[in-house]
Amino acid sequence: MDIPKEIFLKDYKLPDYYFDTVDLKFSLGEEKTIVSSKITVFPRVEGSSPPLVLDGHDLKLISVKVNSEELKDKDFHVDSRHLTISSPPTGTFSLEIVTEIYPQKNTSLEGLYKSSGNFCTQCEAEGFRKITFYQDRPDIMAKYSCWVEGDKSLYPVLLSNGNLIEQGDLEGGKHFALWEDPFKKPCYLFALVAGQLESRDDIFVTRSGRKVSLRIWTPAQDLPKTAHAMFALKAAMKWDEDVFGLEYDLDLFNIVAVPDFDMGAMENKSLNIFNSKLVLASPETASDADYAAILGVIGHEYFHNWTGNRVTCRDWFQLSLKEGLTVFRDQEFSSDMGSRTVKRIADVSRLRNYQFPQDAGPMAHPVRPHSYIKMDNFYTVTVYEKGAEVVRMYKTLMGSQGFRKGMNLYFKRHDGQAVTCEDFFAAMRDANDADFANFLQWYSQAGTPLVKVTSSYNAEARTFSLKFSQEVPPTPGQPVKEPMFIPVALGLLDSAGKDMPLFSVYHDGILKSITSNNQPVYSTVLRVTKKEEEFVFPNIIEQPVPSILRGYSAPIRFESDLSESDLFFLLAHDSDEFNRWEAGQILARKLMLSLVADFQQKKPLALNPKFVHGLRSILCDSSLDKEFIAKAITLPGEGEIMDMMEVADPDAVHAVRSFMRKQIAAELKAEFLTTVENNRSSEEYVFNHPNMARRALKNVALAYLASLEDEEITKLELHEYRTATNMTEQFAALAAIAHNPGKMRDEVLADFYNKWQHDFLVVNKWFALQAMSDIPGNVENVRNLFNHPAFDLRNPNNVYSLIGGFCGSPVNFHAKDGSGYQFLGEMVVQLDKINPRVASRRVSAFSRWRRYDETRQTLAKAQLEMIMSTNGLSENVFEIASKSLA
Ligand code: ARG
Ligand code: ZN
Repeated sequence: MDIPKEIFLKDYKLPDYYFDTVDLKFSLGEEKTIVSSKITVFPRVEGSSPPLVLDGHDLKLISVKVNSEELKDKDFHVDSRHLTISSPPTGTFSLEIVTEIYPQKNTSLEGLYKSSGNFCTQCEAEGFRKITFYQDRPDIMAKYSCWVEGDKSLYPVLLSNGNLIEQGDLEGGKHFALWEDPFKKPCYLFALVAGQLESRDDIFVTRSGRKVSLRIWTPAQDLPKTAHAMFALKAAMKWDEDVFGLEYDLDLFNIVAVPDFDMGAMENKSLNIFNSKLVLASPETASDADYAAILGVIGHEYFHNWTGNRVTCRDWFQLSLKEGLTVFRDQEFSSDMGSRTVKRIADVSRLRNYQFPQDAGPMAHPVRPHSYIKMDNFYTVTVYEKGAEVVRMYKTLMGSQGFRKGMNLYFKRHDGQAVTCEDFFAAMRDANDADFANFLQWYSQAGTPLVKVTSSYNAEARTFSLKFSQEVPPTPGQPVKEPMFIPVALGLLDSAGKDMPLFSVYHDGILKSITSNNQPVYSTVLRVTKKEEEFVFPNIIEQPVPSILRGYSAPIRFESDLSESDLFFLLAHDSDEFNRWEAGQILARKLMLSLVADFQQKKPLALNPKFVHGLRSILCDSSLDKEFIAKAITLPGEGEIMDMMEVADPDAVHAVRSFMRKQIAAELKAEFLTTVENNRSSEEYVFNHPNMARRALKNVALAYLASLEDEEITKLELHEYRTATNMTEQFAALAAIAHNPGKMRDEVLADFYNKWQHDFLVVNKWFALQAMSDIPGNVENVRNLFNHPAFDLRNPNNVYSLIGGFCGSPVNFHAKDGSGYQFLGEMVVQLDKINPRVASRRVSAFSRWRRYDETRQTLAKAQLEMIMSTNGLSENVFEIASKSLA
């Protein structure tokens, strides 16, 4: 293959031409679809007429006209990626292009494709070029109209962006619809849907009194499962008005659910397209986690209407401008709809388990990458989740009101524009007259900063000092790093566990007031900006226990000199609930790492009784939120612990975590049994925090008990499985039963499949549960499931459940005989021929092969090399595989 070309941020150039209006016409057919576009083009520099270069991929060009005249062969040039018009006329001109495309054959799920018999599109990042020749870049913003025609009985519903202007019948059993979008947009927000769909309809009245029609489209039989999505949409619309003063801007908002979709969802202007798993839910078929994910993602895509659509990105390097900001907004929305602490814990766990490893591996990149081969490879946890943490830091530094002022200025300055991360930064800074020092480093430096703090109390002087030091580790292409601007939220606890009043702090020898309206504060935010830095609090009358990095105020790794007893103290008393959880996690991580060392040295394992005691007091504290308890008694994941080791040892980590779970279950068996007993459903399923919290706690207790392998418990699990009236509890019981190999496991898994085989979303859960299993030698089961009639490699949800699930089980994926690596290698090669974007996301499981022992390194590397040597490898997979080997 030709070595794919790398694209650099520093090479960004303004386009030579802009587009004003774009009129599209689609004639949908069974063999082929004809796409005609008519574009008004004008040069950026008046009077200039350089060649006009359009992107196009997998297109058959039928004709090109400039100002209504068909171009002769010598006036344009087409290759596999571009259409170039050598000397366009000067001034504004019209360009008409007709292409032929074959959506029925398109398995890449990008451009126009078919899913379950319906046409749909996915254009972000660069899929529009698979529909027609275009300047496929986000800084080309134009007004679109879209005429869609097709067979009326096959495709009774015809949708596109904006307002429906006209529809009617045509000859030969066809019909048409004409759509017009009054807002300028980049082509990645274009969408078209055609097929047999029905809608759940509702109305939202905006705060200025406009009525907006809301429609959620699915195949008829799924309509009953769209109630929760509609609830989520209306809640999101209201929330954006209340919190940011942002109102929806059209009279119609459509959501379409499709079964074949390679990510979560897409924010196309007024026509969001969703992976059906993020729309469809009923208590019997979807778990609490699904309900929560639907709420978050419906919110996310809706919020993009302002942060993404009205203000978009200048180029794809700026992706986090819209994604980091919109993830932050959806996190806040979910927090306000449920428990803020629990949501924060879930988001931080996600960051630690997925983003930290990426930031420490060969694919590490800044929130705003400097280069890419395929943009699709940069829809990452770094751009999304770390990007959201960066946005959160502005809010931590300036408070809710300051943040809101910054947002207002951002929209005032940039509505209708395609902008950069600096523009967002400048709006935040200018609106608050703030000094953000070197904050922009968060966009350009990769790697997770390691911050260490040591504390000391001077009883005589009554001062308490915190000395910070920071280091940002080297990452590919960035061997040397500058210090970062790290907001550290903190409070000081007195011996009764109460927050001490804070008045001032010495920094660089200068005393600064930290009061608010002349009143003391009980929590403050320090700005750590240097490699080494000291803060001294005066008038501290007794030795405090500091609670540092409250609410996880910066995306860093953090090490303190807090003693074990300090941590137990924080776990019991901190007014910051996040840090209570965190204290427990720090204790658990320390304990797990020391047990891993014992295991590796073949020493007997023993659990610290103080730790068990700490868990017991949390479990039995009826004043605590039940979901908080569920999180607080859950041990850090295996990935998180491996990530902290010099050489990752999946077997040792797995053995230790299993040992701890079993030990905890044995010692707290009575408490866990009571927990299950007291938290059974008494009423119908309701999606609200108290009910979800109750189910979460019950399910965690059941999962602990499952590790005991005892007959009484198996009976209990079976009872829970049989009597469950919702998927949350049924599935948790199934998982508990499936924890231990044997006849019971096989029978219940078969029973579950029989019950739910008609529902592909539930079948995916069934695949994932088995794929993730820790049962020894599970790769064989997974290979069998791969041949299961319900499994289709072309469906991304199937792939995520089975292959993604399998890679999520460290013991089996990293099996020392290489069987897990070999399975993934084979899958990637097969998948790449079908859908490169889905394939390349799977390759990442190999990325950190250097973290393991030599045997594993050799085996994983061999698979990467095998992938690299495959004929016809996609650029997507090439980029991840080659960077992993570099
Ligand atoms: N912009 C979309 C979102 O926020 C993700 C892009 C979808 N891309 C895709 N290849 N399906 O969430
Ligand atoms: Zn998004």
